[in-house]
Amino acid sequence: PVASVLEIGGVKISKDDVLRDDPTNNVPDTIFAKLGMQLHRRDHHPLGILKNAIYEYFDTNYSNKFDKFDDLCPLVSVKENFDDVLVPADHVSRSYNDTYYVDSQTVLRCHTSAHQAELLRRGHTHFLVTGDVYRRDSIDSTHYPVFHQMEGVRVFSPEDWAPGTDATCYVAEDLKKCLEGLARHLFGAVEMRWVDTYFPFTNPSFELEIFFQEKWLEVLGCGVTEQEILKRSGKTDNVAWAFGLGLERLAMVLFDIPDIRLFWSTDERFTSQFLKGQLGVKFKPYSKYPPCYKDVSFWISESFTENNLCEVVREVAGDLAEEVQLIDNFTNKKGMTSHCYRIAYRSMERSLTDEEINKLQSTVRELVESKLKVVLR
Ligand code: PHE
Repeated sequence: PVASVLEIGGVKISKDDVLRDDPTNNVPDTIFAKLGMQLHRRDHHPLGILKNAIYEYFDTNYSNKFDKFDDLCPLVSVKENFDDVLVPADHVSRSYNDTYYVDSQTVLRCHTSAHQAELLRRGHTHFLVTGDVYRRDSIDSTHYPVFHQMEGVRVFSPEDWAPGTDATCYVAEDLKKCLEGLARHLFGAVEMRWVDTYFPFTNPSFELEIFFQEKWLEVLGCGVTEQEILKRSGKTDNVAWAFGLGLERLAMVLFDIPDIRLFWSTDERFTSQFLKGQLGVKFKPYSKYPPCYKDVSFWISESFTENNLCEVVREVAGDLAEEVQLIDNFTNKKGMTSHCYRIAYRSMERSLTDEEINKLQSTVRELVESKLKVVLR
């Protein structure tokens, strides 16, 4: 049972405020239950251990200059989450399909960048913000609707760069050096590469990828802060960099954690394997219970989205849902489109019974039909 009033970073959040039966609200119970868990603030949890290791890198290399925030309330305004960081009005991330809205003006932050503008306005010039972030998404081993990010921002003043040099180039170089150093601090000697990309709040923008287990893995986004953001916070002569990194992504690699649901596990066989200050101890899987696959096929309607389907599946099966995969998709002569999804059910902790899975699947079928306006086949 979840408490009906929470307090996060001094802000009181009541369940009735977050869960409203209102078309401007799309937050399910299962998401409300994650508010206030703050996995990143647990020193013995892989996410807390990783956060502390990143803190250590910044404290050592910047003589404790970075201010740290890890308790800012995840309920933020649409303005903070999007407008203040220059996300265009028509950007997909603003949609009800991608973001959890508490009401038309309030969201569960979808990135820690939601705090950039406010902290700049308050005069911080070096800061790290760690927190839980929320995104409606598909279901597989690396996606979960709640995950954790760390944002870093550093503001430079004209005395930081030599007269006549290009300040943007100078700051971009500094950013890359800082993050390459961080990657070495966490991973040791790794192969890495920079990829040019786009974010509304930085220009130029980059992603850092590291070569790990035969693949290039994207570990963070970053760039030189758009001048407009600094200007609005009263800084006209400054240039800044910012980065945002996904803690689960990095922790899965560092600790060999095979499935993102495990971060939420309270099973002692998981939690007992991690100790404060011990970065990169490899996780030893304690079970390989077999998955059970169930298919569901239906004629979709125009409003159907995979994120909505995944939310229904999570509502019914919670963390027993391991993966939802589209395995067949066709349109008939009448123009009706059919989708078949394969749902993998698996527990990390025990064997599931046929009876239990059949019950879950039949509830999924009922809710898919009643909530998603599709016709089961
Ligand atoms: N907010 C971005 C994301 O969630 C990451 C980012 C942060 C990129 C800061 C650039 C600068 O993907």
